[in-house]
Order: sequence, then structure tokens, then C-alpha cells
Amino acid sequence: MIGRLNHVAIAVPDLAAAAAQYRDVLGARVGPAQDEPEHGVTVVFIELPNTKVELLHPLGENSPIAGFLEKNPSGGIHHICYEVEDILAARDRLLASGARVLGGGEPRIGAHGKPVLFLHPKDFNGTLIELEQV
Ligand code: CO
Repeated sequence: MIGRLNHVAIAVPDLAAAAAQYRDVLGARVGPAQDEPEHGVTVVFIELPNTKVELLHPLGENSPIAGFLEKNPSGGIHHICYEVEDILAARDRLLASGARVLGGGEPRIGAHGKPVLFLHPKDFNGTLIELEQV
């Protein structure tokens, strides 16, 4: 059911420093910082040959990653995103297996303008999983 790894998202306490490190130390292709007010984050996209890394930093009052950074002040992997062809079919299969789909189970439009869902980390080895329909 799941396909390619679309991205790995890393919450970072200092977005400019993290972007500079990926560009200058790791030699990656690093895009500009983009505010995503609907998602409560500022994002820097890093294009790798086979996938993407997204650096996430809280934006606004109720950012979903503010609490994560409180618990992990030096940053950390926040979620990984797998591609699926049919997000509603994927959701129904997951619900039938007993997995918990966050946010009431209705797909939202994610940071790439495509439908996404998040799965409860306690059901998947402590990893927050995002599914994106491509
Ligand atoms: Co994501």
C-alpha cells in the first residue's frame, strides 16, 4: 500500500542555522524558508536525489510542533511521510486494522497541496506517520 518515502520532517529550534548547516556542511540543495500559516510551521525544503527533508519550525501560537520542541529542545525527527495512491482506501484499510487516524480521519490538504493524513505514533513504533496521496 505505501509507496515511496516522500519526506522526513525534522523539527529544529533554529531554522536559519539548520538550513545553513544542510547547505554548507552537508552540501545539500536547500530552498528558502516558507511560512505555512495554515499548518503553524515555517518550512525549509531540502531536495535530495531520492527524497526530501523538511526542516520545521513553529509559526504562530498553536503550532503543532511547539510541544515537540519543548520536549526535544535540540530538535528531532518529527514525522516521516509515505506516498499512497488512494488516501481514502489507505485510511479505510488502516481503520479496519485498528490503527488510529488523527484528526477525525478526514484528509487535509498538506504542505504540498495534496491530501494528507497522520497516523497515531503509538500504533507505529513511536513514529508519527504522514500519508500523502500523490
Ligand atoms: Co510532512
